[in-house]
Amino acid sequence: MTRSMDSLVEEYRRRTPKSRAQWERGAPVMPGGVIKGAYWTSPYPHYVDKAKGCYVWDIDGNRYVDFGNHHSAMVLGHSHPDVVAAVRGEIDRGFGLGGPTDLEAEIAEEITGRFPSIDKVRFCNSGTEASLHATRMVRAITGRPKIAKFEGAYHGSHDAVEVSSAGAAGPADSPDPVAAWKGMSRAAEEDAVILPYSDRESVELILRERKDEIAGVFYDAKPGSWEISDDFTRFVRDVTAELGIPMVMDEVVSFRSGPGGAQGLAGIEPDVTIFGKAFGGGFPIGAIGGKDEYMQILDNTGEPTGMGQSGTFSGNSFTLAAGLATIRGLTPEVYAHVDRLRERLHEGLVGVFEEAGQPARVVSAGAGLDFYMTDQPMNSYRSVSTLPDAELADRIGLALFLKGFSMRGGIGATISAPMQDKHIDGFLQAMQELLSESD
Ligand SMILES: Cc1ncc(COP(=O)(O)O)c(C=O)c1O
Repeated sequence: MTRSMDSLVEEYRRRTPKSRAQWERGAPVMPGGVIKGAYWTSPYPHYVDKAKGCYVWDIDGNRYVDFGNHHSAMVLGHSHPDVVAAVRGEIDRGFGLGGPTDLEAEIAEEITGRFPSIDKVRFCNSGTEASLHATRMVRAITGRPKIAKFEGAYHGSHDAVEVSSAGAAGPADSPDPVAAWKGMSRAAEEDAVILPYSDRESVELILRERKDEIAGVFYDAKPGSWEISDDFTRFVRDVTAELGIPMVMDEVVSFRSGPGGAQGLAGIEPDVTIFGKAFGGGFPIGAIGGKDEYMQILDNTGEPTGMGQSGTFSGNSFTLAAGLATIRGLTPEVYAHVDRLRERLHEGLVGVFEEAGQPARVVSAGAGLDFYMTDQPMNSYRSVSTLPDAELADRIGLALFLKGFSMRGGIGATISAPMQDKHIDGFLQAMQELLSESD
């Protein structure tokens, strides 16, 4: 089922000689020849020339329908006219202005208007920064040292949350904290409490036992499009509220799920929310929002609170302009269109896998969709990280790419607003073909 990796790679090499030359040029001056780790794909990355709407072109002139979507950040599509106009307007006003601009209140109002849980919002440059500041906020507010998070969830690349984000240890119902990378502070593991997704009993037990030392529970409702139910999300909100532990909702990816993010879909109000990705319309962005009582720790205009938050490029005018245009462009109609396409893709893929006799689990919500080569539920890190056939998934990804459908740089597949039925149907047809091909 599907061609061998060798034959797919051979075709990839044939189609992308300029990418190969570019990678060889970069190899002596960048580790692995790549500007960031996530861009590495074997045998070498494809280099992007340009992107427009739902298409992306590589430097060899090949066009792909872009389901990768810049790590899920481009839900409105590439070069959306409103975003382009907003950014052009800022070029004329100058950049690196060194002071606040009139864009700030506008975008802050847009966010507080969409999220009932948010009275105030602060901006930074990435999801990682937002997560870092949120970590400090909840520690400072509660005076407690530990950060609880779910096994396998990724909340950015700072030490406090890069524990059990890649790799699992200990019993499934009471996981041990394990640092994702060498070089992390030992304190990161010591200060982490790891919770298992989709296991209410164990989560409640751990939180009850350790509530006096936990500063906050970080929570992503849809890590990588796993099957986490809205009921489980509501349970996490209820139990943290009952125990007096702040809940930090990570909407860095799940903001793409609907106008009020995953919290809107589940009907909950977390204490603090962090944002990134789609919020910036392709520009580096992060934001932290929450109720007044939480956000006031960032207000040093009166008595110093003991906690500062800033950054040279935080809230720069390009990001704010692109972000504002993007958030305004993500109307209920756009979300409805994206939802409809995602459902079409979901149902279609279930049918294609069934027809091919390939065990598969299709999981989707909002703009995001993923498929796993198993018939088991994908509702925890342990289920996702022990997939039986990762090699088949790699072959499918490359075969799709060669047929013009890219999921590269993605978290599964992301639907974008410019897509139409024909793009979804093309993806389905490509999947159907590749599953029946062999060398
Ligand atoms: C759920 C989640 N939180 C936080 C982050 C970190 O965001 P950034 O890459 O902007 O630092 C990511 C990035 O992929 C993410 O997926």
